[in-house]
Amino acid sequence: MSYLLLVLFLVILCFSFVIFFGAPYLPVMSNSANQALELLNLSEGQTILDLGSGGGKVLRLAGRKKIRAIGYELNPILCLISYLTTIRYKSNVKVICGNFWSKELPDADAVFVFLLPKYMKKLDGKLKRMKLSHDLKLVSFAFEIPGKKPYFKKDNLFFYLYR
Ligand SMILES: C[S@@+](CC[C@H](N)C(=O)[O-])C[C@H]1O[C@@H](n2cnc3c(N)ncnc32)[C@H](O)[C@@H]1O
Repeated sequence: MSYLLLVLFLVILCFSFVIFFGAPYLPVMSNSANQALELLNLSEGQTILDLGSGGGKVLRLAGRKKIRAIGYELNPILCLISYLTTIRYKSNVKVICGNFWSKELPDADAVFVFLLPKYMKKLDGKLKRMKLSHDLKLVSFAFEIPGKKPYFKKDNLFFYLYR
């Protein structure tokens, strides 16, 4: 019984401590994830970063299309789930367990996020500081960057370009 309680406590801890660093876990709907990838219009071999990649839904969709995908995830349980469920795409998909705010992000073609309004300005600053060799597309599910006009908006998806 006490062993079960300890496991339960650890699971709750994994899902709750992330709120000190970013958005809590809530998976994006499959149709929105598909739509985001369609809007990003990436070719095979291009790279997408999912900042806060949760259970790896976007990573799997990207892997299926032979798009290189790197997910950053803080919750160790979700890291493990996304690692296991993307293993068949391991030549294209990588899961990095850690805090994406403290990582130097690699050159990429696109970024997908599903965060919270209070992190959008900080995200904008982080993306502006990236060393890019070409334009970077950002699709944000549900939340826009305050004071920055999206290139376009479709349903719940905000599309931005960083040059
Ligand atoms: C709203 S969920 C989105 C999950 C996934 N992108 C999706 O759309 O299905 C946000 C995710 O970001 C993770 N997260 C929050 N802050 C983070 C941080 N600073 N670094 C890495 N992951 C973080 C959470 O654990 C959670 O899984």
